[in-house]
Order: sequence, then C-alpha cells, then structure tokens
Amino acid sequence: PQTFALQGKNVLVTAGPTVEKVDAVRYFTNRSSGKMGYALAEAARNLGANVILVSGETSLSQPSGVEFIQISSAEEMFQAVKERMDDMDMIIKAAAVADYTPVKTVNNKMKKQDGNLELTFKRTTDILKYLGEHKDKQYLVGFAAETDNVETYAMGKLKKKNADVIVANHVANQEIGFRSSDNEVEMFFANGDRVPLAKESKQKIAFKILNEITSRWED
Ligand code: PMT
Repeated sequence: PQTFALQGKNVLVTAGPTVEKVDAVRYFTNRSSGKMGYALAEAARNLGANVILVSGETSLSQPSGVEFIQISSAEEMFQAVKERMDDMDMIIKAAAVADYTPVKTVNNKMKKQDGNLELTFKRTTDILKYLGEHKDKQYLVGFAAETDNVETYAMGKLKKKNADVIVANHVANQEIGFRSSDNEVEMFFANGDRVPLAKESKQKIAFKILNEITSRWED
C-alpha cells in the first residue's frame, strides 16, 4: 500500500545551476540540468509534502503541484532559501551553486580591448553552511559532487556544514551525476550510517533518498 511518509511536511528543494553574470551577454554557469532536484521535488510531492522548488535556469518544465521559484544567481538562490527556511521541515540542496561570482558586473556588453582580460571573482555565500548554522527543526540534505576522494569530501561536508545527510555523487563518471538521466549515489548520514544506491533513474534515486531519510525519522 502507498504510504505518505511526508504528509503535511514542508519541503524546500533547490535545483539546477546558478548563473553568474559578467556583462549583458556573458556569464559563468555549470553543467547542472536540474534533473536530480526536480526529481526530488516530484518525489517529495508524491509522498505528500508541500513542496517549494527553488530553481536555477533549466530547460525542464515546471512540475505540477509544486510552488515554483525561479532564480538565476547564487545570491538570488540564497535570498529565496533564507526567506523561507523557518517554515521548512526539510531542505534539500541538490542545486549546483557557484562558489565564485565576478566582483564586477557590467550592465552593457563589454567591448574587446588589446591584451588579456582579467576577471576577479569573489566567494558566494555557502547556502548549505548558512542553513547548518541557523537551522532548528529543519532536516538538512546536502549534495556533494566530486571527481575524486568522494568519501573524504562527503564526510567533511557533513561535519563542516552541519547537515543531517550528504548525498554524494561521483561526477567523474559521465553516465551519472550532471545532466544524465541516471544517478548513482552514496548517502552519508550524521549518525554514521552509509547507504549506497545503485545506478538507476534520477526519479527512482530521488524516491529512495527520501525513503532512507523518512524511515530513519520514524525510529
Ligand atoms: O542537475 P543534474 O544535471 O541532475 O545534476 C545533479 C547534480 C550532480 C548537480 C546534483 O546531484 C548535485 O550533486 N548537486 C550538488 C552539486 C554541487 O554543487 O556540489 P558541491 O560539492 O559544490 O556543493 C556541496 C553542497 O553545498 C551542495 O548541496 C550545494 O548545493 C551546496 N552549496 C554549494 C555552494 C554554495 N555556495 N552554496 C551551497 O549551498
């Protein structure tokens, strides 16, 4: 029988890439398609949650039955999440957020000049870290996209960001992680539990991630 493990819970999911503007037509972004985050938003909705999806620019269509908030930059994502965090029972950070943004954004299109162009970047706010520092009841799900030392970095993020679980994907493997339809992950829980989830569609992985989390809530 279908159980609604997230019935009535407020769940916020972030998904997709951020876009950091350089000038009117140029920007820095990353390869995130949004698929993993959208799959999580839909899975949470199907499990009975009230879902807010804070999304970067993707080519996916808006999931039905989900409050949709479109953002572009890391700063906009931070503001959207910060404003809503107090009411949430769970926050899932599947977005690929820029770690750096240009110090200066030019409103017009920059003109070509002789010689090299040097751009200076500053750090963006680490949203997950902020949430970890300011959370009370919120269950915090972070992601880790790594090409190497996946386990060490995932465990490090769990502690440093005060998350309840880190979902690590090994993005060096082109068949999983960014853009692909499938994913293969390992969940690292704060209580020491480790749960590998074998490769399958992001929809199924999303459901299993939520299942692993909520089954631990009930204990
Ligand atoms: O969108 P898809 O194409 O489906 O791909 C899915 C995915 C690979 C993007 C996704 O599964 C994933 O791993 N997302 C996190 C990618 C990432 O940015 O990882 P990170 O190791 O750089 O960041 C760690 C965590 O901190 C993440 O939860 C991230 O959302 C968060 N973060 C990072 C930087 C920042 N300034 N603020 C943050 O909150």
